[in-house]
Amino acid sequence: MNDDVLIAPSILAADFARLGDEVQAVDQAGADWIHLDVMDGHFVPNITFGPDLVRAIRPSSKKLFDVHLMIAPADPYLEAFAKAGADLITVHVEAGPHLDRSLQAIRAMGKQAGVSLCPATSEQTIAHVLDKLDLILVMTVNPGFGGQQYIAAMEEKIRRLRAMIGPRPIRLEVDGGINAETSARAIAAGADVLVAGSAIFRTNDYAAAISALRHLPVA
Ligand code: DX5
Ligand code: ZN
Repeated sequence: MNDDVLIAPSILAADFARLGDEVQAVDQAGADWIHLDVMDGHFVPNITFGPDLVRAIRPSSKKLFDVHLMIAPADPYLEAFAKAGADLITVHVEAGPHLDRSLQAIRAMGKQAGVSLCPATSEQTIAHVLDKLDLILVMTVNPGFGGQQYIAAMEEKIRRLRAMIGPRPIRLEVDGGINAETSARAIAAGADVLVAGSAIFRTNDYAAAISALRHLPVA
């Protein structure tokens, strides 16, 4: 298995009454990034949090804040999330007609730029913006909720995107239903960043849960 796999716990599954402590706990448990699922109740049928929450938990970890915007439109809020402490901002290709402009705006603020694809969206939709991407996020569930079933059919899309990326320095992230079993399949298909909410926060040993997702060869 690839030992360059990054683990990004999603705070969507964390205890919302203690989010700062939870972020500190997964940071100390070995998380590489912190994944923040922003939902607006419009692009997805759920509402989570906004830039003020990002600002509030920013002091809890120095790890990369991987902000996944499941909102439409996204452009009016990019600056607020950048100022709140996001390091990488991901917008959905389905969120509006001007993806290229959104990605340029994110990079112009000195942040890394990502795009996310819902399960039904083809990888061809981002073929013309590869040079503006630091990350591609393949949704392996329909966005909106944690604890859903992994959609194995997305592995073909992951493989095709890994081929499209070629030698470019673009991370390939998967999000949704990722656990010790499905993470091995996603890595084998070409993913190198794993978002996991339930598989980590629904356990009482975050370090063990994170290690189990890495599938590093046993020494
Ligand atoms: C869906 C969310 C979830 C979350 C991870 O919109 O993005 O995929 O991050 O949820 P789990 O790991 O619990 O499936
Ligand atoms: Zn996410």
